[in-house]
Amino acid sequence: MIIGVPKEIKNNENRVGATPAGVNELVRNGHTVYVQATAGEGSGFADEDYAKAGATILPTIEEVYGIAEMIIKVKEPIESEYSLIKENQLLFTYFHFASYEPLTHAMIERKAICLAYETVEKTDRSLPLLVPMSEVAGRMAIQEGAKYLEKPLKGRGILLGGVPGVRPAKVLVLGGGVVGTNAAKMAAGLGADVTILDTNLARLRYLDDILPANVNTQMSNEYTIRELVQTHDLIIGAVLIPGAKAPNLITRDMLKTMKPGTVLVDVAVDQGGCIETCKPTTHENPTFIIDDVVHYCVANMPGAVPFTSTQALTNATLPFAVQLANKGWKQACADSAELKKGLNVVNGKVVYPGVAEAFNLEYTPVDSIL
Ligand SMILES: NC(=O)c1ccc[n+]([C@@H]2O[C@H](COP(=O)([O-])OP(=O)(O)OC[C@H]3O[C@@H](n4cnc5c(N)ncnc54)[C@H](O)[C@@H]3O)[C@@H](O)[C@H]2O)c1
Repeated sequence: MIIGVPKEIKNNENRVGATPAGVNELVRNGHTVYVQATAGEGSGFADEDYAKAGATILPTIEEVYGIAEMIIKVKEPIESEYSLIKENQLLFTYFHFASYEPLTHAMIERKAICLAYETVEKTDRSLPLLVPMSEVAGRMAIQEGAKYLEKPLKGRGILLGGVPGVRPAKVLVLGGGVVGTNAAKMAAGLGADVTILDTNLARLRYLDDILPANVNTQMSNEYTIRELVQTHDLIIGAVLIPGAKAPNLITRDMLKTMKPGTVLVDVAVDQGGCIETCKPTTHENPTFIIDDVVHYCVANMPGAVPFTSTQALTNATLPFAVQLANKGWKQACADSAELKKGLNVVNGKVVYPGVAEAFNLEYTPVDSIL
């Protein structure tokens, strides 16, 4: 198959859809790979690295889209890319269709095959192509939180791990899923005094087993949260209710009860946030302050560490990309229930129920097109 890896052109996106190692794997499987010049630059990969791995470098995005049967990228295509997409071209990337109607209509019109990373789903309902970004965001939440606890950045001026003779910072993590567990691990590793909350008792039992002794688990409820926010220095929002807006676990009135300089990192901001006063921010301007409480609410946290994020993402996407290239999308999706769930829009038909429902579009069952 002919595969194209364009450079991401969405504002501030430095990740890339394939690493040189990934290109090497695709070439070893007998495929031809074209990479747009400087596509990997932001993630630390030079054109020569791709060329050595067996790719051909093309100077423009038009040439990459023009020649490829399958496009592997990271973010959804933006307006200027729509006209480059061809009928029957397979696009393997994040789409998040339900959040942007014009993209859905554009992909229907282009009659492309849109396989979305975010809906590839295992039989246990986990989302293997979202997990790596949650791992990055969870770990990063502590790094960012520790930074904003510093006094010059308006934090309480407390060192996460303390020092001998001085108590460490208290870190509260709301939600013990992928983000929350990674955050708790990082905070615990730095020596903080960590509390992690979840509503799922089985999950709390598991976390209690695997996390170190400086992490304690508590059942999540309004009463406990209201109490804990008064004594904690860094609070991480990491809850998710699949398919719904995150619940507001920290309400505006609670801010007044927190210590001045407390730092809130709402990782769940991309699902509306679990802290009432959070609104999305960017890496250029990541924080704002309300009632002396620092809010960090960057909606695309992994974008700041593209070297790590690109490798984490492509470690997860590459095995699927190889299946798609080796078998063609139809056979690969017929053979793999996981991949089949990733099909969203195919040759002008909406085959993912959530997308059809979101915009009141006609739904075509995916099995009818395989
Ligand atoms: N900002 C970013 O850059 C970024 C990056 C990756 C993920 N995210 C977001 O982070 C959030 C968490 O993702 P995840 O992968 O950890 O999800 P997950 O499904 O692995 O974990 C969510 C956890 O929240 C728990 N939960 C639900 N309601 C709760 C409540 N009332 N109190 C406490 N816990 C509750 C669930 O039981 C579950 O354990 C999602 O909204 C995701 O989109 C954001």
